[in-house]
Amino acid sequence: MKPKVTAIVLAAGKGSRMQNATPKQYLPLAGKPVLFYSLYAFAESEADAIVVVTGKGEEEFCRTEIIGRYGIGKIERIVAGGAERYDSVYQGLLAAKGADYVLIHDGARPLISVETINKAIKEVKELGACIVGMPVKDTIQLAAEDASIVETLPRSMTWMAQTPQCFSYAIVESSYRKALEANDTSLTDDAMVVRKYSNALVHLIEGSYCNMKVTTPEDIVIAETLLMWRENKNAHTL
Ligand code: CTP
Ligand code: MG
Repeated sequence: MKPKVTAIVLAAGKGSRMQNATPKQYLPLAGKPVLFYSLYAFAESEADAIVVVTGKGEEEFCRTEIIGRYGIGKIERIVAGGAERYDSVYQGLLAAKGADYVLIHDGARPLISVETINKAIKEVKELGACIVGMPVKDTIQLAAEDASIVETLPRSMTWMAQTPQCFSYAIVESSYRKALEANDTSLTDDAMVVRKYSNALVHLIEGSYCNMKVTTPEDIVIAETLLMWRENKNAHTL
């Protein structure tokens, strides 16, 4: 039987660094909500189902104003997330029960492409655990609290972790369960959880420099520019 691939799209954050009363996943980007773009890409991809994790009480808004309004397919469930990203991921994992593989994606990354999603699906089926990322362009310095440099990381070894982060369901579910049972609050990224709480090797696969996370106010302008650039590029290569 064909393995089932479920995308878990996270949209339960408050967006405090965006400094806007509206959570950033609902802010308009070229006329549509930020969250629309990643849901649309997963619906167009080879993923079989999508679980959306929203803030508590925002489920109906998401269903009518985003999914219904733009006619997004493959939505299997909409569930409420929790206080921290890892709480939201775990709620998403519970809702995705029955999946063989999951692709955990930040709803705040609207520029994820269908090509990258399909590449990630192919790779996770072979590798069991992989995350999308890109080689870092700048040199990364590790610093102490007083901002003095402790170590210069070799550039050829540094990557920016993006999403989707993709895993076999059994590995990521048991890793998250163990992390939450241990009250581990140091978990900012899914690869970190899986590496700490399982013995799986997590591979990096190249996505695109466009796949930025909308975090601070200027990121909306950058994301809009990238969206336009991508559309023009596609128009010229057709
Ligand atoms: N997220 C989530 N549940 C949380 C926190 C974050 O689902 N409790 C999601 C966000 O909606 C976002 C992704 O995880 O799509 C990445 O998190 P981040 O960029 O940190 O978003 P926020 O936590 O919303 O922003 P901030 O940290 O500035 O408050
Ligand atoms: Mg956050």
